[in-house]
Amino acid sequence: MTKHFRLRDALLCLALLALGASDALAANTDAMDGKAILGKNCGRCHSLEATGASPLPQAPPLREVYLKYPIDQLEEGFAEGMGSRHRDMPQIQFSPDQVAAILNYLGSITGVDPAKRAPANIPGETPP
Ligand code: HEC
Repeated sequence: MTKHFRLRDALLCLALLALGASDALAANTDAMDGKAILGKNCGRCHSLEATGASPLPQAPPLREVYLKYPIDQLEEGFAEGMGSRHRDMPQIQFSPDQVAAILNYLGSITGVDPAKRAPANIPGETPP
């Protein structure tokens, strides 16, 4: 190995690092828009709006899902992928940023702040 090659390797490394960083940046901006995330992954079956039916009648509007389940169960469900619940759904896992964006969006269309939602009341355990 000559000096020349090492320099080239180092430059390649830098270029890859820069690429990685811009990818992460793009993913991050994406994650901030809960509606866009849901629209891309869930919107062809579930309604994402504050009113109205879902495109697929069997799929409950996500505002109803949001109001039905305790907040920690929602966080877990979105983070681990809801895929197991229904066969047709893409297996998808969201990052904590994305989960927060999704819950904030659903909070904004229902008028129920995610921070004010109660955690699961597990039978046999005393609620906090
Ligand atoms: C291909 C259509 C399809 C897509 C895409 C889809 N779903 Fe579903 N989803 C359904 C159907 C149909 C049901 C109702 C039947 C069932 O629960 O298996 C459902 C049910 C659910 C439930 C359970 C609701 C309840 O009351 O128990 C949740 C939660 C859910 N979906 C979340 C999501 C999320 C989040 C996404 C996007 C990441 C998504 N789904 C994408 C079709 C879909």
